[in-house]
Amino acid sequence: MELRDVEDDDLPVLVDQQLDPEANRMAAFAATDPADRDAFAAKWARIRADETVTMRSIVVDGSVAGSVMLWRDEELDAPEVSYWIGTEFWGRGIATAALTELLRLVEIRPLYGRAAKDNAGSIRVLEKCGFEPHGEERGYANARGEEIAEVVYRLEG
Ligand SMILES: CC(C)(COP(=O)(O)OP(=O)(O)OC[C@H]1O[C@@H](n2cnc3c(N)ncnc32)[C@H](O)[C@@H]1OP(=O)(O)O)[C@@H](O)C(=O)NCCC(=O)NCCS
Repeated sequence: MELRDVEDDDLPVLVDQQLDPEANRMAAFAATDPADRDAFAAKWARIRADETVTMRSIVVDGSVAGSVMLWRDEELDAPEVSYWIGTEFWGRGIATAALTELLRLVEIRPLYGRAAKDNAGSIRVLEKCGFEPHGEERGYANARGEEIAEVVYRLEG
């Protein structure tokens, strides 16, 4: 597994990964309309141009397996991590390895991470990388069509 800057050719792959219905249901707090490729393209263009965001493609055996990023959560007014792995790469330790690597790249602490309370995989990734529970909220989850519980995790310095 390696992280590298996002290249233009990665974008269609990353968009396909984020359109996957199972992944969307799991992440829950997903795009308003995951089938809207144009909206996705615009979102990624904004993210890539934003100097406060650190975004990397996760490359495994030459293929783009997903993405990991550090961005500023406006609600928390704090830096937050997020990650998304293509379904065919799940269960191989890739999210854990990618987040571990991102945490080496960025020195800023504390950092936050969020997940739907029932997203056991994502919560486990945060825990394995040293994040600790920091609270719980409720929010409207586009991919579920209802308000659900969300957990906030924090990584100290
Ligand atoms: C959640 C996600 C990032 C996990 O990626 P992954 O590469 O499969 O995770 P890893 O292989 O590094 O697994 C890390 C740990 O989580 C566990 N895990 C992974 N998926 C799981 C699941 N669906 N249910 C329960 N545990 C799970 C693994 O067993 C491992 O724990 P262990 O070492 O104690 O056995 C991936 O499924 C994904 O991208 N899902 C869709 C998008 C998403 O939810 N992103 C996060 C938004 S907050």
